[in-house]
Amino acid sequence: MPSTVLVLGATSRVGSHFVAHPPAGWSVVTAGRTDPRSRGLTVDSHASLDLSDEAAVRGFLRGAKADACVNFAARTDVDGCEKERSDPSAARPTGLPGSAWTLNAELPRWVAEEEERAGRFFVHISTDYVFDGAHGPYPEATPPSPPSEKVSWYGVTKGIGESAVFSSKGPRSVLRISHPYGNPSPGRTDLALTLLAQRREDRLHPLYVDQRITPTWIPDVSTALAAILDLSSTRIYHVASPEVTSPYGFAKALFASRGWRTDDLRTASLASQARDPARAARPVLGGLLVREVHKLDVRPRSFREGIRELLDVEGVPFSPAAVRAR
Ligand SMILES: NC(=O)c1ccc[n+]([C@@H]2O[C@H](COP(=O)([O-])OP(=O)(O)OC[C@H]3O[C@@H](n4cnc5c(N)ncnc54)[C@H](OP(=O)(O)O)[C@@H]3O)[C@@H](O)[C@H]2O)c1
Repeated sequence: MPSTVLVLGATSRVGSHFVAHPPAGWSVVTAGRTDPRSRGLTVDSHASLDLSDEAAVRGFLRGAKADACVNFAARTDVDGCEKERSDPSAARPTGLPGSAWTLNAELPRWVAEEEERAGRFFVHISTDYVFDGAHGPYPEATPPSPPSEKVSWYGVTKGIGESAVFSSKGPRSVLRISHPYGNPSPGRTDLALTLLAQRREDRLHPLYVDQRITPTWIPDVSTALAAILDLSSTRIYHVASPEVTSPYGFAKALFASRGWRTDDLRTASLASQARDPARAARPVLGGLLVREVHKLDVRPRSFREGIRELLDVEGVPFSPAAVRAR
């Protein structure tokens, strides 16, 4: 009999890869707002569920038949989340809670409490944006930074969510990722697809040279999850590029892989630019150090390896001569 994993957020850019490539010996059931079968994904069953409704989530989880649960659901638009912030140093909303608070801070706690009650293994997906970017890349044991104007509201709410999961007494794990790319999915973009589109359409912004990032190749998340689920391993894990880069470094490698020009890229400094109040803070020295997943024999790809594989994912042969030099 295969074990069953319940996936929340199955239609997400990261979770849809896991659902499409479930671990050997596991079947997938899902719950959420959108039926993943409407996106061409195959699952054993789907339950319609508004994940921002506490009573509905708790009621559903109490009746759920599964051996483990993975939560990819979140509010992820960082600048959109920022609009829900009321006070930069507050750890809770001072006004009406918005969807960032509900999905990123509250939902993980509801699920962790119900999974603890059920004795079911729970893996929660989190982000390097829980850190203030003072000295990244960060090792797994680093706790989320306290709320401040250096941490976006997205990061604050995700930090509260992962802390709630980790402090649960049930079997649970937190898996942090950083700038995921490599799973082109309808209606969703990512770091690589955004840069490619902006370059093609001649609307590329100046690229930060001083922001440390460790982009995550999405298929590596599915590989790591398979190992974590098989062992019910209860630690904090990072899946990210072992080679640190910057948005400029990533873009340069990406465009070069297609034979495009890179000598005309404009650069900028995240640390020294005056912050646009309409944009949320981003960690300057961000990114994730990867150590724990190595113990599970999982070796996340460097961003250069991911970029080479992206050409295959997109169905574009790796032939610089085949792409137009700009
Ligand atoms: N994107 C990034 O750059 C990034 C970076 C680091 C970490 N992460 C983390 O990785 C995980 C996955 O992120 P992602 O970018 O793949 O997510 P995403 O593409 O933005 O998808 C979000 C998911 O949450 C679901 N959802 C949102 N509100 C819901 C509601 N009220 N009821 C039911 N479902 C709801 C969405 O369902 P619908 O399809 O119905 O909208 C979707 O499946 C998250 O934990 C995120 O914080 C993301």
